[in-house]
Amino acid sequence: MNEASESSDPSAGQRDDAVPLSGPVIRALSVRKTYRLGAESIHALRGVDLSVACGEYVSIMGPSGSGKSTLFNVIGGLDKPDDGQVFIDEVDVAALDTFELAWLRCHKIGYIFQTFNLIPVQSALENVMLPMLFGGTSDADAQDRAAELLKKVGLGDRLLNKPTQLSGGQQQRVAIARALANDPAIILADEPTGNLDLATGEQIILILKQLTEDSDVTVISATHDHKMLAASHRVVYLTDGRITNILDRDQIDIQVGSIGTGGTLAGSAD
Ligand SMILES: Nc1ncnc2c1ncn2[C@@H]1O[C@H](COP(=O)(O)OP(=O)(O)OP(=O)(O)O)[C@@H](O)[C@H]1O
Ligand SMILES: [Mg+2]
Repeated sequence: MNEASESSDPSAGQRDDAVPLSGPVIRALSVRKTYRLGAESIHALRGVDLSVACGEYVSIMGPSGSGKSTLFNVIGGLDKPDDGQVFIDEVDVAALDTFELAWLRCHKIGYIFQTFNLIPVQSALENVMLPMLFGGTSDADAQDRAAELLKKVGLGDRLLNKPTQLSGGQQQRVAIARALANDPAIILADEPTGNLDLATGEQIILILKQLTEDSDVTVISATHDHKMLAASHRVVYLTDGRITNILDRDQIDIQVGSIGTGGTLAGSAD
């Protein structure tokens, strides 16, 4: 079993960015997801086991179609597994009623989607305000915080632009600011730097990394970006719906030159 906690000994190598000692904030147990398209069955997840500790920064690597977005949707309570369980703070997500699940999605998890999912008719400011308004924050407070978050991601001069008036990278940054809106404990980020230039990508990684260090936010990010790998505590390698390898911090430093190529890695955890 690919229990992620296996390789996360905080004392290893006396790292100053060591994984905190507290228990897992996310636990996926034998998660399976099969999509059915007519007569065809697509096995997107074929039994995934993963534990992620509070304050940990985990990157998910894998070729297109390997199941990364599906894993995010299942971990984030946006989709249900066909088999297996997902625990958030040791609560079985499947046991939550509609209201509890909505609360979890609104307050506990910040989502950065691969396709941004911004509301086209709303400005950047309004897009970032939205989760706060859903969560009960007053209009004035939501507006102040949204402006502050947009400044943080370098968009202080684009508050009133609509998504179509922004570049892909700028839209991505609005999506990142929106994910931070309700101070989530967990951030699920699907290719968050995929559309960003080098400098902006590094800035975003720094923000996410700082959240894990300063506020014990847990980040799980699908990425092909080597910069993100270097910031990670662990890299989980997903192939054809299965975890085929987990590298911890020390191994990432050594392998960062080859890990992003999608090539076979030595020492499979299977
Ligand atoms: N709603 C759906 N209906 C049918 N098949 C789907 C659906 N969503 C995903 N799939 C299939 O499930 C598999 C995993 O898809 P997923 O989107 O999780 O991959 P991914 O690793 O995120 O890929 P990418 O890097 O391209 O984003 C793929 O074969 C995909 O075609
Ligand atoms: Mg995807």
